Order: sequence, then C-alpha cells, then structure tokens
Amino acid sequence: MPLFLPSVTPNAPTPELNARTIIVTGPTAGLGLETCRQLMKLGCETLVLACRDVSKGLQVSERLLSETTGKQSQNQRPPSVKVMRLDLADFGSVQSFASRVKSEVPVVDTLILNAGVGFVGDLQFTTDGHEITFQTNYLSNVLLVLELLPHMYKSSRESGITGRITWLGSRSADKSRLGLKILLGESSIFAYMNSPTQYSVKDRYADTKLLCQAFIYMLAERLALPGLPLIDNASEVDDDSSNLFSVCDEDPPASVIINMVCPGLVETNFCYKHLHLWARLFVLLLLFLAARSVEEGGWIIVYAAAVAGDNSHGQFLLDKDIKPKPASLESADGKQFQHLVWKETMMEMRKLRNCTGF
Ligand SMILES: NC(=O)c1ccc[n+]([C@@H]2O[C@H](COP(=O)([O-])OP(=O)(O)OC[C@H]3O[C@@H](n4cnc5c(N)ncnc54)[C@H](OP(=O)(O)O)[C@@H]3O)[C@@H](O)[C@H]2O)c1
Repeated sequence: MPLFLPSVTPNAPTPELNARTIIVTGPTAGLGLETCRQLMKLGCETLVLACRDVSKGLQVSERLLSETTGKQSQNQRPPSVKVMRLDLADFGSVQSFASRVKSEVPVVDTLILNAGVGFVGDLQFTTDGHEITFQTNYLSNVLLVLELLPHMYKSSRESGITGRITWLGSRSADKSRLGLKILLGESSIFAYMNSPTQYSVKDRYADTKLLCQAFIYMLAERLALPGLPLIDNASEVDDDSSNLFSVCDEDPPASVIINMVCPGLVETNFCYKHLHLWARLFVLLLLFLAARSVEEGGWIIVYAAAVAGDNSHGQFLLDKDIKPKPASLESADGKQFQHLVWKETMMEMRKLRNCTGF
C-alpha cells in the first residue's frame, strides 16, 4: 500500500465488456500490458494491441491468450487478439494504423490511449520535425483520435453501444507553467515546444500532459456543439473544412464518451528508464515508498474506460473521481491558452492532408 495515495478497489465484473472490441496503445509494458490483462479477464471479446514493436506485441499477445484461455465463463466467446504497428513518433505510422483499423476492424468500441514517454533525456526530434515527447504524448494522439472518431461514431450507430475513448493524463499537468509562459512570452505553442532553447527535460512531460488535458476539454466542448467549425477563424485555413463534427449529428444518434485519467504514481519503469544512475536511485526509492502497484493502476484505467458514466465525458478522472477543471485552465488566461492549443493543433492537423474524416 503506498504511503501517500488513497487506496483503490478492483472493479466489479463488467459483463458488458463481453462483446467489446478495444484498442490499447502501448500494450507491451507497464500500465498498457496490465490494462490488457484485466480487460481480457473481464471478458473483452477482441483486443487490438497497437504497438511500435510488432515482435514484442506478438509475445504479449501469446502471453495474454495463455493467461486467459480456459478461464472464461461458458457463455463467453474465446477472445481474439490482433497486433498492429503504431509508432506515435511518426505521423505516417499513425495514419497507416488508422487506415488499417478502418479497413480491418469494422467495429471499434473503445480506444485506450495509453502509450507515452516520460523523461526522454537529451533533446530529440522526430522525422516529422517535432520534439519527440511533444509528438508522442500529444500530437500523434490527437491525430489518432481525429482519424478514428468518425469510425467510432459509425460503430456506435451500428451497434447501439456507446463508444469510449480514454486517454492517460497525469496529475503533473497541474505543475506545468506552459500556459503562462506562452501567454507572457508571445510565442506560439508549437514554436515553444519545438525550440531547442526552451527544452527542459524536467518540465517537458508535464507540459505535454497539460496540452492533452486542454485538448480534451476543447474537444468535448466542440462535440457537444456540432455546428462549431473546426477552427474559429475560417480564413486561417487554406480550404473549406468538411466538418468532423457533423458525424455526431447524424441519425440514428451515436455517442462516444471521451475522458482522461491519471492513475497516480505507479511502479512501472516509465519515469526512470532514461535517467542517470543517481536520479534513478532516487526515483526507485520514491516508487518503493509511494507508488501504486501496476494492478491498482490497471483498475483505475479500466474503470475510466469501461465503468465511468456519461458524466465523465470531457472530464479528467483522478483515480476514479472526476476532478474539477483546474483554475489554471478555468481562468480567463487559461481559456485563452486552451483556445490557442486548439487552434494551433487543428492547423497542424490540417496540414496532414491524407487524414480522412476532417
Ligand atoms: N507510471 C506512472 O506513474 C504514470 C502516472 C500517470 C500517467 N501515466 C501514463 O500512463 C501511460 C503508460 O505509462 P507506463 O508507466 O505504463 O509506461 P511504460 O511502462 O514505459 O510503457 C509505455 C508504453 O508506451 C509505448 N510507447 C512508447 N513510445 C511509443 C511510441 N513512440 N509509439 C508507440 N508506443 C510507444 C511503450 O512501448 P515499448 O514497449 O515499445 O517501449 C510501452 O508499451 C503513459 O501515457 C503515462 O504518461 C503513467
């Protein structure tokens, strides 16, 4: 039992998972692997393992199947596990993954955006030209959501089941001062995040998780008002935008709950694998004293992705509880920052011309 975090309880059996198809990103380690394990035990029918290393994914698939085979109740169909390549540090890979899902997975009920990186050490850029933490934790997840949302609406319309997207956030976003720095420094968010002189390994993780949180709030707001254009000022984009959000206006109605969850500090090797020895020892001690077990972390993620109700839509869950929007995003400055996040992100997404659905 960790010293500083409240205890959490396992989830009650969730029979409705029986017929679900669930995509989990980053299933090859830590929380993603544990989430897959719990989803399989709870009876999820089809699991798509979205991993950057397919050989690791195949090993995980074998392991999961061997752990669950024979342990399902009689009326459950045997689970199916599919491994697909997804590298969040590469927009091309995200788009290929989304295309494959749309053609090979006719119904997607749940998408768990778990993959992410912590403290990556020295500054690194992706081949798309973005700082690697920025693209992996934030931009590629936005792209994936925008690519798959129309498919998930279609799935929900056909199955009558509410779709779900759960994105892994972090409490550390509260510590980010990115909003203030952008508003005071008159820099664009993208220029700041990709500037070698602004890079700080210490702040970067929290900054990317703040961006994810700001985006989720804005996305839920836009989805609730389907008439809103993607970008407020249409002259800022180079062509007419066929509106992604028209998909939620169609008949019969479809719905997708989108929420974000932080499982607290969990004993994975996420935050220390790139640290120097002395920092690694300190983090190991902290994890020993204060972290939750991976199993407890999994309970929290599965709760957000399968149990939390409609009221979790557009919300941030701290453990299993909805957390009010932080003052840093609720204030006038915070709202201005969120609008900037939305506008700059959507303009970047529009440059990825192969994206379908928006
Ligand atoms: N652990 C915590 O205390 C904690 C707390 C709050 C939130 N979170 C969040 O929980 C999520 C999972 O964390 P974790 O602790 O389970 O981390 P982890 O053990 O390091 O696992 C990360 C997973 O993401 C995958 N991944 C990394 N870069 C990727 C990329 N470019 N493309 C595709 N997949 C990639 C990894 O794949 P490989 O196996 O190929 O490396 C691995 O499967 C993260 O989003 C993190 O921010 C963690």
